[in-house]
Amino acid sequence: MKTGSLLITAGPTHEPIDAVRYIGNRSSGRLGIALADEAARRGWTTTLLLGPTPAQPGAGYETRRFTSTADLQALLQKEFPACDVLIMAAAVADYRPATVASVGKIRRDPGGVSLHLEPTPDLLAGCAAARRPGQLLIGFALEPPERLLASAREKIARKHIDAIVANPLRTMDAPDIEATFIRRDGSSEPTPGPIAKTEFAPWLLDRIQQLCEE
Ligand code: CTP
Repeated sequence: MKTGSLLITAGPTHEPIDAVRYIGNRSSGRLGIALADEAARRGWTTTLLLGPTPAQPGAGYETRRFTSTADLQALLQKEFPACDVLIMAAAVADYRPATVASVGKIRRDPGGVSLHLEPTPDLLAGCAAARRPGQLLIGFALEPPERLLASAREKIARKHIDAIVANPLRTMDAPDIEATFIRRDGSSEPTPGPIAKTEFAPWLLDRIQQLCEE
């Protein structure tokens, strides 16, 4: 099977509020780590961009760490041009505080505080807009089950990517995953029920390698 250079993003982002607080999410990064482990085993030159998580990356590939969406954006600008395939498994924040408090730590205020959140840039769509011919981009989408397929298809079109892995919300920090792989041509394939994230990695890489050969 064809291999090449694979870039995987995984884990949550932390968006700073002040010097000690952040807005984050429950992504563990374990799925991205399992994908990087399996890809390296298959002979892909693999780079993992890993967010703030206690989960430890494996050996056999390079890992770069990021904290915020802005950090990940800077890493992607450096790493994306050279890869053949990008798998965007990171749970990137959709919003971040528009300003980081300059006082160090925001003090308790009996009147409460308000945070103004601004949208983050869509990193996957940004990579897709800068892609060179032949590069393949795969996204992930956590979706409510009743509109999983429709929403995933809409994201493929909006972000100009090649395929998306859609999974129900409950897979966020679970050890197993029940996913549907949806291609740009509209075709889709579900996993045979919930499977362990370590079993899911070869399942997904088989399908991505098929796409590379088309
Ligand atoms: N993504 C990204 N940059 C963002 C947000 C998401 O690159 N600022 C990527 C994710 O890594 C994922 C894909 O886009 O691979 C889909 O993420 P999702 O949050 O489901 O899509 P959104 O466009 O944020 O749509 P919505 O929040 O409406 O579901």
